[in-house]
Amino acid sequence: MSERPKVALITGAGSGMGQLAARNLAREGTRVAALDVNEQGLLATAESSQSIRTWNIDVTDADALAAAIDEIEAELGPIDRVLNAAAIMPLGRVLEQDLDVFHRVMAINYNGVVNVSKLVLPRMLERGRGDLVNFASLAGWLPTLYMAAYDASKFAVVAFTEVLYHENRGQGVRFACVCPPPVKTPLLDQARDTTWPKLFDKAAQLEPQDVLDAIDSALDNDEFWVFPGKGTKLTWRLRRFLPNLLWKRVHDAEGF
Ligand SMILES: NC(=O)c1ccc[n+]([C@@H]2O[C@H](COP(=O)([O-])OP(=O)(O)OC[C@H]3O[C@@H](n4cnc5c(N)ncnc54)[C@H](O)[C@@H]3O)[C@@H](O)[C@H]2O)c1
Repeated sequence: MSERPKVALITGAGSGMGQLAARNLAREGTRVAALDVNEQGLLATAESSQSIRTWNIDVTDADALAAAIDEIEAELGPIDRVLNAAAIMPLGRVLEQDLDVFHRVMAINYNGVVNVSKLVLPRMLERGRGDLVNFASLAGWLPTLYMAAYDASKFAVVAFTEVLYHENRGQGVRFACVCPPPVKTPLLDQARDTTWPKLFDKAAQLEPQDVLDAIDSALDNDEFWVFPGKGTKLTWRLRRFLPNLLWKRVHDAEGF
């Protein structure tokens, strides 16, 4: 079992995998700083344990994050695990989505990860320990129709996290970049509310706990890339070596 952190900072902790991770870690004795813009979600997260404290913070606001991180370390202790899980996923064809959507998706899904990573990693490096876990997605490798904004933000998280890892490996901090296929969380409702790719009907949806288990196992085994779910790594390989085959499947599924 992975060494349990004493203090964890989790963004997107008001829902889905961030919320589940907050509850799991708190149950195991970790003091958890749960960050989100979803006040109701944060209340629900904190309800389960007195070890969870909440910060209503937008990950795009680097100043607010810097102040919160000072507060978290003063009140809970040195942060030794970060889970960057905040994200949004409004879908649609590029020419039918407002410009604002592209900017917002990149600001939250990518800049948010950069903000938190750059604020917390120097502290972890100074202490020579900690786990920095960034949620990308299989969408960070595999572009599909309707998903340009989200895919681009996740490609960016993949590239940023890979470089960050290689620049700072071997100094006691463990890194993981998580690339799941669809997972049963409220994030998928955003696709239902905007554009639901038919491809999603064909894809199996993972349980959130399976993704969290895969992260623990990767940290235990010093693995940087996390591809949870059966067949996920195979899809990743197909994209690398046979991209046209995958695009044909995507076009066939969506019908254009
Ligand atoms: N669910 C999936 O199918 C899936 C698949 C691959 C990767 N992921 C990634 O996993 C991570 C967790 O996703 P999830 O499925 O648990 O999603 P979710 O929608 O259940 O939770 C995401 C949380 O992020 C919060 N958030 C959104 N904007 C924010 C902001 N500006 N500041 C702070 N918090 C903000 C939301 O309020 C929400 O509580 C995300 O990075 C997501 O992209 C999800």
